Amino acid sequence: MRISAFFPPVLLLSSLCYTCATKAQAQFPDLPGKDAALKVCGSCHEPERATSLHQDRDGWDATMSAMAGRGMDIPDAQYKTVLDYLSKAFPGEAPKPLNINAAGAIDLETTFSLLRSQAALVIAYRDKHGKFKSLDDLKKIPGFDFSKLEDKKDRIAF
Ligand code: HEC
Repeated sequence: MRISAFFPPVLLLSSLCYTCATKAQAQFPDLPGKDAALKVCGSCHEPERATSLHQDRDGWDATMSAMAGRGMDIPDAQYKTVLDYLSKAFPGEAPKPLNINAAGAIDLETTFSLLRSQAALVIAYRDKHGKFKSLDDLKKIPGFDFSKLEDKKDRIAF
């Protein structure tokens, strides 16, 4: 489909859709850059199309590049404002923490990318010594390579 044939009706529809605009206002959290985002992302389709996505900054950058490929034309400074807004307003799902005292082997392996043998060490130590109370307790497990958990320690709950 040629872009030139496609856009005029879309533009007309979105400018007529007053209730769409007010609905979008409500769904867009009040953060810096909101007005710019509503304006830019509402110029071809309903702006709340953005609210269907939750993704990290790289994801939003990719979406905005895709929109640029479809004809979105904004100055660099505004691109950054809108990107900042979308990344904050519709962030990716934060990974859920995993309770290290309740987790089974599979959860430990998948959440922390542990080898089976390493996950087994954690569970065996827990069975023997009771609940872990802190990260320091995890460092005491003989043969367990704590460095594997280092960059994921925010996800450990006790
Ligand atoms: C130049 C016109 C234009 C602008 C400006 C624009 N888009 Fe789009 N957008 C499109 C087109 C064309 C489609 C795909 C056709 C359709 O589904 O209607 C689309 C589709 C989407 C989709 C659906 C998923 C997909 O990839 O097909 C999302 C999400 C989206 N846009 C978000 C945004 C956001 C966020 C902004 C503001 C940063 C924005 N758009 C600005 C033209 C635009």
